[in-house]
Amino acid sequence: MRLSFILNGHQVVLETAPDRRAIDLLREDVTHEDLLGFDLVCHDHRALEVKEGCGTGECGACSILVDGVHRLACLMLAAQLEGREVVTAAGLGTQADPHPLQRAFAEHGAVQCGYCTPGMVVAAAALLEQNPAPTRAEIRQGLSGNLCRCTGYVKIVDAVQAVAKDFAGEDSAEEPGAPCAENEGERP
Ligand code: FES
Ligand code: FES
Repeated sequence: MRLSFILNGHQVVLETAPDRRAIDLLREDVTHEDLLGFDLVCHDHRALEVKEGCGTGECGACSILVDGVHRLACLMLAAQLEGREVVTAAGLGTQADPHPLQRAFAEHGAVQCGYCTPGMVVAAAALLEQNPAPTRAEIRQGLSGNLCRCTGYVKIVDAVQAVAKDFAGEDSAEEPGAPCAENEGERP
C-alpha cells in the first residue's frame, strides 16, 4: 500500500506492506531519494530512537506519539500510521534545542544506558500534556508502562517532576507529607 504520514515534521510517502509493524517501518524504511539538479540526494528520516525491547507491548521502549497520543510502535501496523502525525523523542527536541524533559533527564542523571530513555521521554511528554502538574504518584503511574533496568526510577521521577514544576511555575507537583516511595529496581 501507499502510505503517507508526517514523521517529526517531515512528510513521508512510501510503499509498504500494510501488515508491516510500525516499529520496523519507522526504524528501517523511512528514506527516500530526490534528484536535486544532478545530485541524487537520500533523505534519511529513520527513527532509530524508537527502540525495541520486548516487542510485545510490555516495556514501553518503542513509545511514540500518534496525533499526540502515547502509543507503542511494536503493537501498531504500518497502515495505522496513514494520515497521522507521528512524533518520536527526536521530534520533541534536538541536541541544540532540547525539550525541557530531555534537558531535565540529563541534568538529573535520569539516564544510564539510555535504552529506555527515548520512550520514557515520550511517555513523560504525553503525561505532562494530559496532566501538567502531576504528583510523584501520578508520575509513577503515568510511566508505569515504561521499564528501566538501570536507574531505579527515582531520578526519572525527579526529572519529570522538575519539568512539571517549571511548567506550573510553583511547587505544585509535591505530594504533601508523602515520603519518597520509589524503590530501586521496581517499576515506577
Ligand atoms: S518494544 Fe514495544 S513495548 Fe516493548
Ligand atoms: S537507562 Fe538503561 S534501561 Fe533505562
